[in-house]
Amino acid sequence: MELTHLMVIMALSIGIATGRLNSRQPSGYTPSRIVGGADVPAGEHIPYQVSLQYRTAEGQMHFCGGSIITPNRILTAAHCCQGLNVTRMSVVAGIRNLGERGARSRVVAYDIHPNYKELVTSDLAVLSIEPSLKLNNKSISSIEYANKGKNSFVGGGVPVTLTGWGLRLPVPFPFLDAFNYPSILQRMNYNTITNRECREMGMESVTNTEICARGPLRGACSGDSGGPLVMSTEDGLRQVGIVSYGLVVCGLYLSPDVYTRVSTFSDWIDEKCLDE
Ligand SMILES: *[C@@H]1O[C@H](CO)[C@@H](O)[C@H](O)[C@H]1NC(C)=O
Ligand SMILES: *[C@@H]1O[C@H](CO)[C@@H](O)[C@H](O)[C@H]1NC(C)=O
Repeated sequence: MELTHLMVIMALSIGIATGRLNSRQPSGYTPSRIVGGADVPAGEHIPYQVSLQYRTAEGQMHFCGGSIITPNRILTAAHCCQGLNVTRMSVVAGIRNLGERGARSRVVAYDIHPNYKELVTSDLAVLSIEPSLKLNNKSISSIEYANKGKNSFVGGGVPVTLTGWGLRLPVPFPFLDAFNYPSILQRMNYNTITNRECREMGMESVTNTEICARGPLRGACSGDSGGPLVMSTEDGLRQVGIVSYGLVVCGLYLSPDVYTRVSTFSDWIDEKCLDE
């Protein structure tokens, strides 16, 4: 990979996921949230979305998103787990604002996909959590994921929805003061593009194990990593992507975001999630 690419493409988690808890990434121009999205309105729920949090000396810190697959399994990105101390990780379900209490479960183990290579392929992981979440079909519920199989390969031009709490970098643990820093879940719609278009737009290493989306002046940003990209089907919502990486400057005009293509990995996810 050329140096220019290493400099402009980055995983969309907050620094700790790569073990640089105290590092300060270039910020200034890094938008604080999903770019081009809007607050999820009060009273509405994205019931499959969770906040992945890390316990630091200063308190609990949101650093990635995830989605509920079963009451005790969460799907997220590999780069949201690698190198982290599992005893400090937890997930919070059933919230819209990071300041809400919600249902917190600790992460007891994470399983990173064996083929994971940062910024290259297989950026996914499954978390095992305790206690199991109480699914209530309202504020907390699971989402089905796209399966491998005929006609399941999502091409370009498909409307998709991303949700997340992507935060500003650097973040000196702002949610200790949730009142001063309300952090409402953001939601944004845009369209997938074909992998070929994605490569032509500068994401040269994109393979069929990934799926790209872009929209004018919108996109995923730091802290959205691991979160779910969903599409609607006749049978309801399906998760088709996991936020993986994008440009350092989020939401530039027509710059693509790269997601792990969930359908490629459905056998592995089945194995990790349905083994109780
Ligand atoms: C992980 O965190 C726990 C609790 O803070 C600590 O006791 C333990 O030493 C840490 N383990 C590693 C490998 O850093
Ligand atoms: C969840 O709620 C929807 C809409 O109220 C309803 O149609 C569906 O049957 C419910 N599912 C379960 C598992 O309770």
